[in-house]
Amino acid sequence: MRPVVRAEGLVRVFGDGALRTVAVDGVDLEVRAGEVVVVRGPSGSGKTTLLSLLAGIDAPGAGTAWIDDVEVTRASEGDLARLRAEVVGVIAQDFALVEMLTAAENVELPLRIARTPIAEREARVAEALEAVGLTPHARQRPDQLSGGQQQRVAIARALVHRPRVLLADEPTAQLDSASARTVMELIADRVHRDDMAAVVTTHDPELAAIADRVIEIHDGRLGAPAPTSRAEARRRRMLRGEAPA
Ligand SMILES: Nc1ncnc2c1ncn2[C@@H]1O[C@H](COP(=O)(O)OP(=O)(O)OP(=O)(O)O)[C@@H](O)[C@H]1O
Ligand SMILES: [Mg+2]
Repeated sequence: MRPVVRAEGLVRVFGDGALRTVAVDGVDLEVRAGEVVVVRGPSGSGKTTLLSLLAGIDAPGAGTAWIDDVEVTRASEGDLARLRAEVVGVIAQDFALVEMLTAAENVELPLRIARTPIAEREARVAEALEAVGLTPHARQRPDQLSGGQQQRVAIARALVHRPRVLLADEPTAQLDSASARTVMELIADRVHRDDMAAVVTTHDPELAAIADRVIEIHDGRLGAPAPTSRAEARRRRMLRGEAPA
């Protein structure tokens, strides 16, 4: 089966001179339908930048990303808008909720954009809020919700239109460990049941448990875990020409 999400040689550089940062440094990635890929790395390793490139929110300096047959790194604004409305669900690290709308209205937005009929909209919003345990808070605005509740609104909104691709940036960062587990299980369940493809970033080692595949990210590069202190010490000894311990 062809991968739903693909990236080849993605590079994103910020700033120049002394401030030059290579946030994403030659990333290749393939994610198939029915697969949850967790991208795990420390703060500043390039997780948000990578997801922004995959979602077409940011443009790379080099490389290409595709979602289905759409080349997101070259697509027109119209094509990207359609892709985000119909194919992709994004959970932003800062939630990106609309402050003047209630939780239910925030969750409804993707369905309005997709022109889903009102009766179906109501049923889907109720179902999505229920799935994240927010039914009692449906009429509250984001400023009346806790950080964890806001995060769950963002999760419900990303899944309500049943996207084929989920791009989630630390979707459980604000949650206590029990809620984090529930939310990750919800995401994994939806991905496996609906044959979605998901890229989920985290720096929480526990969340790897629900992943079909875990990829480490360090300094914008995938698959290169930072050396453990023991391995690093051995490398240094070898460089000094000493026998490995
Ligand atoms: N708009 C920007 N301008 C300049 N530098 C940026 C910008 N966005 C990100 N960076 C830099 O790129 C690198 C990767 O940042 P990114 O936000 O992708 O990391 P992250 O893995 O998401 O971190 P965190 O876990 O803290 O969210 C960092 O060094 C960051 O300072
Ligand atoms: Mg980030």
